[in-house]
Amino acid sequence: FPVENIRNFSIVAHVDHGKSTLADRLLELTGTIDKTKNNKQVLDKLQVERERGITVKAQTASLFYNCEGKQYLLNLIDTPGHVDFSYEVSRSLSACQGVLLVVDANEGIQAQTVANFFLAFEAQLSVIPVINKIDLKNADPERVENQIEKVFDIPSDECIKISAKLGTNVESVLQAIIERIPPPKVHRKNPLRALVFDSTFDQYRGVIANVALFDGVVSKGDKIVSAHTQKTYEVNEVGVLNPNEQPTHKLYAGQVGYLIAGMKDVTEAQIGDTLCLHKQPVEPLPGFKSAKPMVFAGMYPLDQSEYNNLKSAIEKLTLNDSSVTVHRDSSLALGAGWRLGFLGLLHMEVFNQRLEQEYNASVILTTPTVPYKAVLSSSKLIKARRAVQKNMIFIDQNRVMLKYLFPLNEIVVDFYDSLKSLSSGYASFDYEDAGYQTAELVKMDILLNGNTVEELVTVVHKDKAHSIGKAICERLKDSLPRQLFEIAIQAAIGSKIIARETVKAYRKNVLAKCYGGDITRKMKLLKRQAEGKKKLRKIGNVEVPKDAFIKVLKTQ
Ligand code: GTP
Repeated sequence: FPVENIRNFSIVAHVDHGKSTLADRLLELTGTIDKTKNNKQVLDKLQVERERGITVKAQTASLFYNCEGKQYLLNLIDTPGHVDFSYEVSRSLSACQGVLLVVDANEGIQAQTVANFFLAFEAQLSVIPVINKIDLKNADPERVENQIEKVFDIPSDECIKISAKLGTNVESVLQAIIERIPPPKVHRKNPLRALVFDSTFDQYRGVIANVALFDGVVSKGDKIVSAHTQKTYEVNEVGVLNPNEQPTHKLYAGQVGYLIAGMKDVTEAQIGDTLCLHKQPVEPLPGFKSAKPMVFAGMYPLDQSEYNNLKSAIEKLTLNDSSVTVHRDSSLALGAGWRLGFLGLLHMEVFNQRLEQEYNASVILTTPTVPYKAVLSSSKLIKARRAVQKNMIFIDQNRVMLKYLFPLNEIVVDFYDSLKSLSSGYASFDYEDAGYQTAELVKMDILLNGNTVEELVTVVHKDKAHSIGKAICERLKDSLPRQLFEIAIQAAIGSKIIARETVKAYRKNVLAKCYGGDITRKMKLLKRQAEGKKKLRKIGNVEVPKDAFIKVLKTQ
């Protein structure tokens, strides 16, 4: 395939603005998939994506398109739209020369439209603005054109107005891809240089690496080397994604496809790695900006006998999603487990759901926390910082873009939901890391009859300590069974008690139901009670069942 007839592009948009629907239409128009079928989000392969109607994993598809007697190869890389997955977006963009920036004709420019535009702009890609959903009753494409001109400095006549749902004007999007996006700058005569931009794990075939070829050619049987691990492999299969894997004899520079090379260990196919021929080593391509986890949570098997199964499920899933960080951890109450770092809350939920759906694993996920840097000092004289307004830009008369500096802890848990309900769904939100700031944080202990419960020690903002402490005490009170004596549940900062709940004393008489008589039944009941105690953890004289920890530590 001549390089000048290849276009590598991506579709980016705010959530729900119609990327996947546009991708479906492009696949149909180019005959990649059958038009008669009911095609809905063909590239959203994961069960979690179909259920939630969101794209999580970037997918790739090669389309063939005839235009003025020439055949073009268009490599489409679908990308996720949610804030949490902007890492996937930037990864996909490194294999592209242009993007379709899809904007809803009714909603106009939203937070992730802006974030995605700048990712593409910084990567120096051609941006084709596509105004979608012009069939909607409230659509106002002219207003959106003006917004695009004002915010991105793209002349309004460059906007293509379509309805992806009805297929209206989608053909001109294909035209624009050919006319406005340059072919990749590659050298087929040079030695092989292939970028691994994604990888998935298949139970039977091992690691499948998605690659973009910048230089050279790769064929079945070639000996290749990973620049990252220096390990050598023999290529078993190469092919294109159409959108399903379709083996070919070779892959040439400028093409995007997949490669299977006997990588069995999940750590072998690093995203951002460069592959080259064994006999012709090359300078590796620049790697990716690595993903930075923002939210951390503990993950434990429901039962310790499940530890190894869960371990291998997590390993396989992190190969699919290398933005998750994993560290071994253990908790006195929950046993051996891990501390995982995620890009955001949705990312965490999706990871959890994928573990359950794709690996049949049931797990305990603890309440998420955000990273802090602690500076030890005798007095906490440091001034607290709240949200600080940075700037304000009017996109048009009805819409304003506000920039604030927020403590991450304030936005990870329920900020997005509150913002949506306060603005009746009109506001949208995106964030990026602004570095560490000093804040007045305190360590809060939870005490049971005066003894600290190690599992429940947390770091909180001084002003929130009382309400958070009170909530934990209440949840603990609801989940602690009564015992033979009164239990004081307290939240404390240093020696100062800030919240308290009490569980009244109760004598649990398991024999009450056996009226005298039957000694074997009595023995059975006593034995069962003793077994029940094994699952308890003793804190001082208070027995805490594992369930109580789960209830207090879990997300919901
Ligand atoms: P994410 O993958 O979650 O980012 O969403 P997306 O941008 O891929 O959006 P998707 O294609 O899933 O479309 C979101 C919703 O908008 C779906 O209910 C589509 O049916 C609808 N939709 C997409 N295009 C059009 C259109 O042209 N007109 C109308 N009326 N609805 C559309």
